[in-house]
Amino acid sequence: MQNLIELAQKSKAEFIKCYNTKPTWIVAAPGRVNLIGEHTDYNDGFVFPMAIERYTVIAAGPAEDGVDEATVFSLSKTEPATFKVDGSVPPPEQVEWWHYMLGTIHCVSETGMTTPPFRAVVLTNVPLGGGLSSSAAFEVATATLIEEMNGKKIGDERKALLCQQAEHEYAHMPCGIMDQFISTLGRDGYAMLLDCRSREPKMVPLDDPAISVLIVNSNVKHELTGSEYPDRRLQCEKAAILLRVSALRDATMEKLEAAKPVFDEEHNGDLCYRRAKHVITENERTVAMAYALHKKQWAECGRLMYESHDSMRDDFEITCKELDTMVEIAKTLDGVFGCRMTGGGFGGCTVSLVETEKVDAIIAEISSRYQEKTGIEPTAFATRPAQGAVVIR
Ligand code: GLA
Repeated sequence: MQNLIELAQKSKAEFIKCYNTKPTWIVAAPGRVNLIGEHTDYNDGFVFPMAIERYTVIAAGPAEDGVDEATVFSLSKTEPATFKVDGSVPPPEQVEWWHYMLGTIHCVSETGMTTPPFRAVVLTNVPLGGGLSSSAAFEVATATLIEEMNGKKIGDERKALLCQQAEHEYAHMPCGIMDQFISTLGRDGYAMLLDCRSREPKMVPLDDPAISVLIVNSNVKHELTGSEYPDRRLQCEKAAILLRVSALRDATMEKLEAAKPVFDEEHNGDLCYRRAKHVITENERTVAMAYALHKKQWAECGRLMYESHDSMRDDFEITCKELDTMVEIAKTLDGVFGCRMTGGGFGGCTVSLVETEKVDAIIAEISSRYQEKTGIEPTAFATRPAQGAVVIR
């Protein structure tokens, strides 16, 4: 929270510096880490994320008289973005940082809420491109800003879905619902088991001071072809068709084994079989982990996290050698219950469940051994489950 207050104060100071007046609104939305349940959301399955103590903050105020566009400064850019807020800007082909905001403004307009011309400053301490949902944080913060401008609420579920739509249409990323839901609905001290079919969240307490969630950024991002994520979605859809279920959520390992001959006959059948195997077993692990976490069975949680990583490495094939190395290092360390890659894959971060009193020693050990093996310096921080989108002013 301290972190957020400081960021909000900084956003206010920056706003005053840029526009010579105080902001009317200050809103924020967090990034997230997924404890378990990877690539299950678009298969109607289960995910178990929590919001992290890293936020994107927007300080904003109405535009000056006579100005009919938005002007937005980001601290990491020298030039502000300017764009029309009246719906006349179509989704651009090349994605720029401010398109998350533009897209959200467009999608939220479906609710009848309009966005007046405004000026704003955006600040974030969510690592960008690290698989911690910096884009969802920006979208959800923008939707929260529009709610404040209109003095009305969209409703949490609809708000998250509109932000997801913005990501699809304006960032050309066919994501599931996890990131925008947790950035909207996250609750201080709780992880969230989300049933992505019914969209019903179950909040599970994660507030034992003896336990910490450690995030370590591998600081690598492998863009192989750029189509890895949509390809996985298509392979899962194909597997569901071969299994004659509406989504992989409805499949079981027995069903998959029985259908093995059908998969074998297909082009790339083995690939689809393994994708389905990951999703089916990951759904089971996710529900099991939420239960184990609720019961404070940390060793069991850890076991499930390691299994999840193996499944992502061998069956879903979304890890990379740096992340595999990091998980192998974590396995040997005292005080680590479990560790796995988190997020979309091909780089980004690992998430570990660790003993709080050993956090510093664990970070030091992972950092030096990871660097020794890969030549890359990782960045690490521990976090508590944080609050979702907030209005600060
Ligand atoms: C990205 C997407 C999510 C989800 C994860 C993988 O973060 O935005 O919807 O599919 O990848 O679990």
